[in-house]
Amino acid sequence: MDGLADKRLLLGITGGIAAYKAAELARLLAKRGAQVRVVMTQAACRFIAPATLQALSGKPVLTDLWDERADGGMAHIELTREADAVLIAPASADFISKLATGAADDLLSALCLARACPLLIAPAMNRQMWHNPATQRNAALLVQDGIILLGPASGEQACGEEGMGRMLEAEALADELEGFFQPKPLSGARVLVTAGPTFEAIDPVRGITNPSSGKMGYAVARAAWEAGAEVTLVSGPTCLAPPPHARLIRVTGAREMLEAVNGALDGADIFIGVAAVADYHPLHPNEQKIKKGEGTLTLELAPNPDILAAVAGRPNPPFCVGFAAESENLYQFAELKRQRKKLPLLAANRVQDALGGNESELVLFDDAGAHPLPRAAKIVLARQLIRHLAGLYRPDPAAGRGTPD
Ligand code: CTP
Repeated sequence: MDGLADKRLLLGITGGIAAYKAAELARLLAKRGAQVRVVMTQAACRFIAPATLQALSGKPVLTDLWDERADGGMAHIELTREADAVLIAPASADFISKLATGAADDLLSALCLARACPLLIAPAMNRQMWHNPATQRNAALLVQDGIILLGPASGEQACGEEGMGRMLEAEALADELEGFFQPKPLSGARVLVTAGPTFEAIDPVRGITNPSSGKMGYAVARAAWEAGAEVTLVSGPTCLAPPPHARLIRVTGAREMLEAVNGALDGADIFIGVAAVADYHPLHPNEQKIKKGEGTLTLELAPNPDILAAVAGRPNPPFCVGFAAESENLYQFAELKRQRKKLPLLAANRVQDALGGNESELVLFDDAGAHPLPRAAKIVLARQLIRHLAGLYRPDPAAGRGTPD
């Protein structure tokens, strides 16, 4: 992860059992390079000690509007002038209602009102409190006011009930914050991404597939969203959680993937084919399970459509990006593939790097040549790819979509 280096964050903690997760959050934000300043409400101090947050952030924790340690005795002003963003986690129902009315009767609410920087909040409360019309009304007002709501999630609650209102986990909140700080060069663009493997049925319990995990495609979808795009993700079978910010269309085989892509392509400005699409499917899949016999078994395979080539070959195509996993001659094969499929941009990696892991190495190929990206987490590579793409992509107002330079 690369996004929080040198970011100055003000972490506000309000009173709720999820306050204990704020300790892990403060640690993660600092680990990702952010300078973290913590402000707690009196109620938060009943759930977790300020000393814990002080140790994790390396700075004194402020809890009092009248704290004399702040410059000029104006903590509520000074603190936000030094911050790139304020994150309230957890944000209790009570605090959300304060934000909605503009109350400023303690340090945290006063600094939220006085802030000159973006405010993100992670609601956390019992499900009835979350679904209460008053909280829903308040949350809608915050969104109208430009405050960014992260979550809540659904799941088991501290009170023993199950439902909506759980605070997002610390790791997810840190990811959200990183995404928030990414540049937005694809604002307004519509991006369609394919990801994962395809599965081509042989019989009801067997099929041809490959070890693609879908991690790179999901990372690309996320990076495109972080860059401001509206994202649709067409995904083969994976074990990954649905990306929170993309429209997800699940498919199984290559032909189904093509159908989904064709259905979602209308209005797409950019198409990124990350899926490891099987090149063939069994011509006559068995309706019943094939029983084992003595001799060999021969499968007749028919070619699958090349989804990326079909999209790139359309009249007035979207800006098309391909992926290639090669086991040898990476530079030569990848550039040939780019030219054959008529792509302005292709990202290539070695087969042993491509599948399954959280890290990889990529080489980007465009008309200007090859651009190697050093080994990094897939989300970091995906962000670099999207930045590179954004440099080549120019929205074409006449066609309503992008063209390469
Ligand atoms: N691709 C696709 N549909 C296919 C095969 C590939 O859309 N039926 C896309 C992939 O998503 C990827 C790119 O094409 O973006 C390269 O895929 P790859 O399988 O490596 O290339 P092929 O053209 O199939 O070449 P080969 O398998 O011979 O290396």
